[in-house]
Amino acid sequence: MVTVRVPAKVNVQLGVGGLRADGFHDLANVFFAVALFDEVTATPAEGVTLSCEGPDAALVPLDDTNLAARAARLLAAHHGLAEPGVHLHITKAIPVAGGMAGGSADGAAALLACDALWGLGTPLETLLELAAELGSDVPFALLGGVALGRGRGEILESLPVRGTFHWVFAVADGGLSTPAVFRECDRLRDEAGTGFTEADVPTPDADAALLAALADGDPVALAGALANDLQAAALSLRPSLADTLRAGTEAGALAALVSGSGPTCAFLVKDAEAAAAVAAALRASGACRAAHPTYGPVPGAAVRT
Ligand code: C5P
Repeated sequence: MVTVRVPAKVNVQLGVGGLRADGFHDLANVFFAVALFDEVTATPAEGVTLSCEGPDAALVPLDDTNLAARAARLLAAHHGLAEPGVHLHITKAIPVAGGMAGGSADGAAALLACDALWGLGTPLETLLELAAELGSDVPFALLGGVALGRGRGEILESLPVRGTFHWVFAVADGGLSTPAVFRECDRLRDEAGTGFTEADVPTPDADAALLAALADGDPVALAGALANDLQAAALSLRPSLADTLRAGTEAGALAALVSGSGPTCAFLVKDAEAAAAVAAALRASGACRAAHPTYGPVPGAAVRT
């Protein structure tokens, strides 16, 4: 039996370029791993089967569309294993369809768990390539820390970061579909008359002020540099998120933004004490289903010993 623990992410910068011919968008995506973890436990079994526990377990598909199952099959195929055998049990704490890459995290964890269970010893470089086949956010879940993702988010470069930053995550009722949020971003750009394809939108770049704030361990500077090009689209599809963002800011957060494609909202705060206070105020406001104080960066997926 092998258990892998894997973190959620927030995007401290999510610069979205134009729509590409392949249906993806070029990104300047600064991933930041936070201490909100799923666990995936792999045990020997016949075929590939899944189970899930946690408050959102009913929302997790347990068929072959689940990234954890796809990861097991992809790893087996890569090594020419005819009959992959594993049961994967997911202990879910990362919000489902929440913009925190929970499904991607489970895919990354399953790659690592199956690799250990089957004794394959796949090099990290190969696992990162397989992860990129599974989805744009899966490689980062293996890497953790803070990293710049280029291309559709899968070409990663680890970034220097000092110290610990404190966060609160406000979980919404119900998820948002990532493709739907990207489509809404395109639609809003089209409506604004700026165009939305690669030809119209310049390829985004990492923000130098944001990278400096991370390297300096300066939460106030980071708060001023947080940016998410998908936020307007997430707010357009879920206008109530504006109330959630406002509730956190009024409670004393340094900054508020939608996490990835949403609907989870992220609040950067100055320390652990502020995180507890902002989480309590968010819960009391009724503007979210749950509020989790946490911190980061933390390492990527790892086998629990
Ligand atoms: O890579 P992943 O399967 O997570 O992407 C899900 C969907 O999100 C894609 O099919 C696409 O619609 C959208 N997406 C995008 N540009 C990216 C990443 C994802 O348009 N860079």
